[in-house]
Amino acid sequence: MKKIKAVIMGFGDRGQVYAEYAEKRPDVFEIAGVVDPDPVRVEKAKKRYNLKEEYCFTDPAEFYARDKFCDAVINATMDSLHYATTAPLLEKGYNVLLEKPVSSNPSELRDLARRAKENGVTLMVCHVLRYAPFYREIKKVILSGEIGDIRHIYLAENVAVYHMLSSYIRGKWSSESECGSGMLMAKCCHDLDLAVWLKGNSRPKAVTSVGSRRFFNAANKPAGGGTRCLTDCRIERECPYSCRKLYLENDVYPFLVWTGVEGKDWSEVTDLKEREELLKTVNPHGKCCFEDKDLVDQQSVLILFGDGSTATLDMIGGVTRPGRNIHIVGETGEIEGFLEDNVFFTRKYLPETTGYSETKTIITEDVSGAHSGGDLRLVKDFVATVSGGERSPSCTDIEDSIDGHLVAVAAEISRKTGKTVFTDMLV
Ligand SMILES: NC(=O)c1ccc[n+]([C@@H]2O[C@H](COP(=O)([O-])OP(=O)(O)OC[C@H]3O[C@@H](n4cnc5c(N)ncnc54)[C@H](O)[C@@H]3O)[C@@H](O)[C@H]2O)c1
Repeated sequence: MKKIKAVIMGFGDRGQVYAEYAEKRPDVFEIAGVVDPDPVRVEKAKKRYNLKEEYCFTDPAEFYARDKFCDAVINATMDSLHYATTAPLLEKGYNVLLEKPVSSNPSELRDLARRAKENGVTLMVCHVLRYAPFYREIKKVILSGEIGDIRHIYLAENVAVYHMLSSYIRGKWSSESECGSGMLMAKCCHDLDLAVWLKGNSRPKAVTSVGSRRFFNAANKPAGGGTRCLTDCRIERECPYSCRKLYLENDVYPFLVWTGVEGKDWSEVTDLKEREELLKTVNPHGKCCFEDKDLVDQQSVLILFGDGSTATLDMIGGVTRPGRNIHIVGETGEIEGFLEDNVFFTRKYLPETTGYSETKTIITEDVSGAHSGGDLRLVKDFVATVSGGERSPSCTDIEDSIDGHLVAVAAEISRKTGKTVFTDMLV
């Protein structure tokens, strides 16, 4: 297999995760450069991957001005930058592994697919869950024909309290208007992609959705609550959502909470007193979580496919046990499981007894790391695709990724207008 050399564009949390594949498989993958306006991060990449100065860019314009010098770019910039940063890469002939969400704008989604096709390059989206062994094995059962054609897919994404607070309520995806992604795009475009990819043989046609800011809102602020946990809140010690419990007494998501402070890498902000001061003043993670904002904390989506089958997704933010449920009903069998258990059941109707048979599938592969083992398996498949190797069933054409995104766009329109939205009408 030809060795693939890639630039990391955006050496933040995700960019650093994907780059690790070069440490795991230096025989097939090499980091060829880095682009990031943050000099601390560029320096980190330079040291870790022994990069020459001429391939380290703090000014993205300088990188774009340079002739193509490697096979691919892993674009792990933030949501609102994905379209503008990717379009010129495709035009220059780079193969691109692009973080989700691609865009919330249907014409931008279609435009990137067109540019990839016209320039003869691969544009792959970081649908990491497709690569988690749990979903990959479910897809294999579906492709084997064992449960017949799919009639319905039920999905639920239960977002844990600490995750909901750190990423969405107070975190960098806390506002649709500021970040460019609503809750479905930011969190559940994985789940909507799973629905479309698992169904496989029919495209989504119509979408209906409802949702609300049901719990983390100003009306629910308890008496005595303030604007910041550590400054003017009189019930901080009793509040289960206090930033003290999350980030001082427990070290929840330190890379999300302490990044960018005084130009430091998050791992350098270690002093507890300094952390407390930051939470009192500048850090958004020190704010009261009971605020009115434009992000929902629960939402349900109903999809109708062209062949009459259906799928539903329930996203509930702020639950006790995090995880994703799945229940697929096929014409001749069913699959049911819970991602975090790494176990699923395949059931078949037994007419002789009117009962059913049940096969238990236990995932025994290494599923360590984020996304139940999906992250580096995705990079492996990208490298194989670009080097002309064999693609796994998880890897599909860019159009399939776009369909999942279109469902998210349609769902948001439906939630806001109260109408069913047809995906073909989206412009
Ligand atoms: N696939 C997944 O499961 C998954 C999980 C989490 C986040 N994400 C997505 O990954 C993306 C990155 O998230 P993150 O948490 O790593 O963000 P981050 O803020 O940690 O990293 C983004 C980096 O991009 C840099 N940057 C800004 N403008 C740039 C430009 N023009 N060119 C190059 N670099 C630029 C920033 O300085 C920063 O270092 C987001 O879109 C997010 O939604 C995906």
